Amino acid sequence: MRLAVAGIGNNISALVQGIGFYRQRDSSEQLPGVTHPILGGLRVTDIDVVAAFDVSEAKVGQPLSEAIFAAPNNYPELGTLRLTEDPEVVPGIADPDDKQQIASVTKLLRELEVEVLLYSLPTGLPEVARAYGRAAITAGVAVVNCTPDPIAGLTELRDEALSQGVPLVGDDLQSHLGSSVVHGSLLALLEERGLTLSGSYQVNMGGNADFANLRTHGANKEASKHRALRQKINHTDRVTVIPSAGFVTHLNDRKVAHMSIEARGWADMPVRLDVTLQVQDSSNAAGVIIDLVRIAAIARRRGETGFPVAATSLLKSPTLMEDPLRQSVNAREFLASLASENAGTAEKSEPTD
Ligand SMILES: NC(=O)c1ccc[n+]([C@@H]2O[C@H](COP(=O)([O-])OP(=O)(O)OC[C@H]3O[C@@H](n4cnc5c(N)ncnc54)[C@H](O)[C@@H]3O)[C@@H](O)[C@H]2O)c1
Repeated sequence: MRLAVAGIGNNISALVQGIGFYRQRDSSEQLPGVTHPILGGLRVTDIDVVAAFDVSEAKVGQPLSEAIFAAPNNYPELGTLRLTEDPEVVPGIADPDDKQQIASVTKLLRELEVEVLLYSLPTGLPEVARAYGRAAITAGVAVVNCTPDPIAGLTELRDEALSQGVPLVGDDLQSHLGSSVVHGSLLALLEERGLTLSGSYQVNMGGNADFANLRTHGANKEASKHRALRQKINHTDRVTVIPSAGFVTHLNDRKVAHMSIEARGWADMPVRLDVTLQVQDSSNAAGVIIDLVRIAAIARRRGETGFPVAATSLLKSPTLMEDPLRQSVNAREFLASLASENAGTAEKSEPTD
C-alpha cells in the first residue's frame, strides 16, 4: 500500500521503524503489539512510505531513513529499519495560502500513485491541515488525520471528498492504550456500577515536541479529548483534561498520564481511584496509525467515499459522531469483519536494509 506522510516527526519514526520491526519476523509468528495483523487483506508489513513532506531544514532533502532521527525527534533508534523505498523528504505546504505549494503536493501524490496521505503535523495549524486535505482530495488520495485540527470534520472538505470519491479518516487518533481510552473506560465502569461522579481529572506530560507544542496549542486537543470521553460516558462537565501539563525533558518520547477519579457510592460514602499510565508516546500512536491507514486504503480501493465506519473507535473525534443516522451502525463489527479477511494478493516486496 503506497503511503505518503506529511510531518516527519516522532509518529512517523515509530511507524516506519515499527514496520521494519515486524518485517524482521517470520510472517507466521505472532505480532506482539499489533491489534489486527491483517485488515481488509493488508498486512502490517504491506505498507510502504513512498513520499514524505516536511518544512524543517533538518529534514527536507534528507532520505526518510535519516530524517526520522533528526532533532527534535526523540523516539528511540530501534535498529530495525527495513524500507522498501527510502524517499527524500520534500518541502510540503508551509503557507496554506500558497496555491503553488498545494499544487506541487497534489502533483507528487498523483505521480507516485499514492493511495493514502497521513497528516501528522504539530497540532494548532488548522489552515495548513485544510490545505493538505485539499491537496490530497484533488489528487484522489485518501486522508488519515492524526491531529485534532479538522480535516474530516470540515464540511467543505467532506463535500469535495464525496464528489472526488475519496475517503477521509479523522479526526485525531485515539492512541493504542492512551489516557483517553483508559480514563473513559474507568469513568464508564463507574457509571455502569451506579456510582456518582464527584470530579475527575487527567493530566498528561512528556518530553517530546508534541508536548512542548501542546502547552501553547492545546485548545483543539482538549476539546478532542472531551469528545473521546463522550464516546464512553454521557457527560464530561465534571472531568478536567489537561493535554500537556508540562514539558519534562528527561521523559523524551515517554508520556506520563495521571488520572484521578472521585465518586460517591452507597450511603454517599466516598470512593477514589488514582491511576498512572506510562507509555512510549509515539509507539502508542503508531499502533493505531497502522490500522487507520489500512482502513483508508481499503475504503479507497473499494470505491467507498466519506467516513469509513470501521475507524470510529480508533479516533477521538470521528466525523461519524455528528451523523446520527450512521451512529447506529456497529463500528466494531465493521472492524472485526475487515480483520477476518485473509491477506490479499498484494505482492510481498523484498525489504532492503
Ligand atoms: N503521540 C500520540 O500518541 C498522538 C496521539 C494523537 C495525536 N497525535 C498528534 O499527531 C501529530 C504528530 O505528532 P508527532 O509526535 O509526530 O509530532 P512532532 O512534533 O514530532 O512532528 C511534527 C512534524 O511536522 C513537521 N511540520 C511542521 N510544519 C509542517 C508543515 N507545514 N508541513 C510539513 N511538515 C511540517 C515538523 O517539522 C515535524 O517534523 C501531533 O499533532 C500530535 O498531537 C499524537
